[in-house]
Amino acid sequence: MKKVAVVYWSGTGNTEAMAQAVLEGAGADGKLFDAGSFSADMIKDFDAVAFGCPSMGSEVLEEEVFQPLWDSCVSVLGGTPIALFGSYGWGDGEWMRNWDEDAKAAGLNVACQFVICNEAPDDSALADCRRIGEALAM
Ligand SMILES: Cc1cc2nc3c(=O)[nH]c(=O)nc-3n(C[C@H](O)[C@H](O)[C@H](O)COP(=O)(O)O)c2cc1C
Repeated sequence: MKKVAVVYWSGTGNTEAMAQAVLEGAGADGKLFDAGSFSADMIKDFDAVAFGCPSMGSEVLEEEVFQPLWDSCVSVLGGTPIALFGSYGWGDGEWMRNWDEDAKAAGLNVACQFVICNEAPDDSALADCRRIGEALAM
């Protein structure tokens, strides 16, 4: 099994619940990190990374902690397989479409379709999260 880091920011727990499901899918070698406890220099210790962040501001990533972390990771990820996930509220997922496009435009190896859900993840969203964990760990 590959070593998968699951790195997330969550204000009210919805994206955290998704992250826990990604971790379950990633198996025994998966590790969970709150965004504040992860840094770009840790990427070399993992085979794949799942990034989770909800829609914040106006259809953007959380700007204080997660966006700077993401920016620093983009320059060192290289071909490391990644997956994106997160929760949203009243929008239509625009933040994730933009994030996914930016990741691909930066040449990153986006290994699976992103997973989004409205507010708290239901069983179907949690299953999708487990699947991206499994895909990254294969
Ligand atoms: C400051 C703030 C800004 C938000 N901006 C958006 C937004 O632009 N679009 C949207 O769909 N939801 C927005 N939301 C709703 C959150 O994305 C939603 O509640 C999500 O489930 C929060 O995930 P979390 O529990 O992981 O923090 C915003 C919430 C907050 C607190």
